[in-house]
Amino acid sequence: MEHKEDESSKEPILVTAALPYANGSIHIGHLLEYISADVFVRALKLMGKDAIYICADDTHGTPIQVNAMKLGVSPRELVEKFHKEHIRDLESFNIKFDNFYMTDSPENKELVNFVFSECSKKGLIYEKELEQLYCEYDKMFLPDRFVKGTCPVCGAKDQYGDVCEVCGAVYKPTDLIDPYCVLCGNKPVLKKTTHYFFKLSALSDKIKSWLLNNKNLQKEVVNSMLTWIDKGLEDWCISRDSPYFGFKIPGENDKYFYVWLDAPIGYIASTKNYCDKNNCDFNRYWRNPKAKIIHIIGKDITYFHLLFWPALLMSSGFSLPYEEIVHGFIKVNGEKMSKSRGTFITASDFLKSGINPDFLRFYFASNMSKKLLDINLDVDDFKDKINSELVGNLANFVYRVLSFTNKNFDSKVVDFSDDFVELKEKILNLVGDVKEAYEGFNLKLAVKKILEISDEGNKFFQSQAPWKLVKQGGEDFNKAHRVVSFSVNIVKILTALIKPVAPKYAESVEDQLGISDLTFSDAKFDIPTGHKINKSSIVLRKLDKEVESLFSLNVRTEKEKDAGEVKNMEDNKKDFSVVDLRVAEVKEVKDHPNADKLYVLKIDLGSEERQLVAGLKKYYAPEELLGKHLVVVCNLKHAKLRGVESQGMLLAADNGEDVKILEAPSSKPGSSVFAEGVEKHPAKEISIDDLLSFGLKVKDKKVVYDDKPLRTSDEIILVDMPDDSKIR
Ligand code: MSP
Ligand code: ZN
Repeated sequence: MEHKEDESSKEPILVTAALPYANGSIHIGHLLEYISADVFVRALKLMGKDAIYICADDTHGTPIQVNAMKLGVSPRELVEKFHKEHIRDLESFNIKFDNFYMTDSPENKELVNFVFSECSKKGLIYEKELEQLYCEYDKMFLPDRFVKGTCPVCGAKDQYGDVCEVCGAVYKPTDLIDPYCVLCGNKPVLKKTTHYFFKLSALSDKIKSWLLNNKNLQKEVVNSMLTWIDKGLEDWCISRDSPYFGFKIPGENDKYFYVWLDAPIGYIASTKNYCDKNNCDFNRYWRNPKAKIIHIIGKDITYFHLLFWPALLMSSGFSLPYEEIVHGFIKVNGEKMSKSRGTFITASDFLKSGINPDFLRFYFASNMSKKLLDINLDVDDFKDKINSELVGNLANFVYRVLSFTNKNFDSKVVDFSDDFVELKEKILNLVGDVKEAYEGFNLKLAVKKILEISDEGNKFFQSQAPWKLVKQGGEDFNKAHRVVSFSVNIVKILTALIKPVAPKYAESVEDQLGISDLTFSDAKFDIPTGHKINKSSIVLRKLDKEVESLFSLNVRTEKEKDAGEVKNMEDNKKDFSVVDLRVAEVKEVKDHPNADKLYVLKIDLGSEERQLVAGLKKYYAPEELLGKHLVVVCNLKHAKLRGVESQGMLLAADNGEDVKILEAPSSKPGSSVFAEGVEKHPAKEISIDDLLSFGLKVKDKKVVYDDKPLRTSDEIILVDMPDDSKIR
């Protein structure tokens, strides 16, 4: 075992977390990632691996340029302010980077130029002339975020040039109706400009084989990337016109590299900066087939990290990632973080609440694994997990054992080598499980197994009842001392193992144990006889009111709502926005085993497959359904129909005689279906009654909710049925 650890320590491991934009404060969504990665790297280090944790601020791009212009400061001043703030916030959560740099650095500039020139040499870069919106008043081209106008799809006003926040449609700035410049309000003109493109299309096969051959990538992530590749990758525009905060393209006066080109190269630049400070060579990480590069990212930036990034690396001679771990998003009380609901919790909000940052680390770790699920920070669950597991189970055991040792045995530990053999073995097995779980980024399982150890400890201490033995004196007193000494060893094991998750807490227990610098190889029963521990103290206390104060904004808005303070017309109506309608392709049609009117369909929702039970047998033959693009309610409570589960419901128009399914032939599976002008905030689950209460019906061959037609970003849903046919 020792030998193996030595061997593997020769292979350098580089772990990165995605670079936060230096344009806003760190919030709990960021923390989910930075904490998880930190727990992971701390564990690798405690296993004796040669791992480093690298990150940086992502300082370039349009939003930073726009904000700086609005505030009347230089972009550099703005990002420096956030850089300082980020460092302070991240440290407060005991997130320990080996280097936290910024992308606006000389190292990065040099590396970006290098990558660009390598790609040029390989013929992967070309220039192309385009027409873009230009403001003659401000004398500048208007990138996505500098231009607003009316959404070409749903007609919502004041939408940005890239995506409509009302209907979710994605388009080009030139598609906007009545565009205006966000700086001066004037109408822009079309003007020709030349841009640089990276031939991503030429690399599809190489990227595809990397995705298929890298066994460490999550399956679902690979599949969704393959879907993109199979649709055909478009070449990637990597330049932007000035004003832009970024690196100038060599040989150009007013053109800059697009932020997503220089941001990931920032991983290499930060490593180089680290190496220069620590006497090593960054090639040890980036040009070494033995090195393991592990990127940890959120699901929103998968495209950049699993298509663009490997393409850039393979074109410029750097090592490809060994692994990319994609995680889901944070939810607060089951919903997306939201400023208006008071659940947009920044790092400093959290600190102000007075809650121990180790508690958030513990909560995130107990939920994190390689599964791509969103992670819910639920007030009650948070309080419960901390109070019953971390404080009630683990910390309570630690304090109970150490204070008992202080009180009854002059703080001394004795030999117990012939006793408790079975439990010893059981615990050592659990220790092995914990290490394995950490190494596989299964933080959730690691925490679970640690709690199993303290559970065993608690049960042992309780059943041996040393407080009784002590009173009986003689041999019983000695037995009590062995029980307690064994327990002190369990405390030591727990302390070593919980270190990555709760480093501050573990440090304090190390002090109490009188043993410092525990690593995972100390997770065994080996405290020498005669060792004297220090004075114990209670370090962690149960959560109480602080939790409410953290969510206080939320509580307040709820109350205000009750008091009718924030009432508007919209609130009176039940809101159609809760319904999640999407396009699904029919993949398979089978007869229901126990019902002769029903079919069982397999449908493809773009990102997942589901099964539906539908009463269509009277109206459609299987081949009439196969391959059709249907409209499906995705968040309907799942139901068993005659013993077969239906995971949603397809919509059809019904006039009492005939039934016709709703179709969206020109929309891709997974596309959102919405009522024009109604913003979508799908509820977790809705009932069939909720759905029927919206009174969807046919009008002029369209399907309307409150006179608003259902549509996707590509088409209006049409069905050839008489007016007032019901949708069900
Ligand atoms: N700057 C880019 C990343 C460039 S990496 C070469 C960026 N920055 S970000 O600040 O928006 O996000 C940084 C990381 O935090 C991303 O991995 C992102 O997915 C993650 N999160 C941001 N908000 C999040 C939640 N609400 N929940 C979980 N993680 C989220 O993207
Ligand atoms: Zn303007």
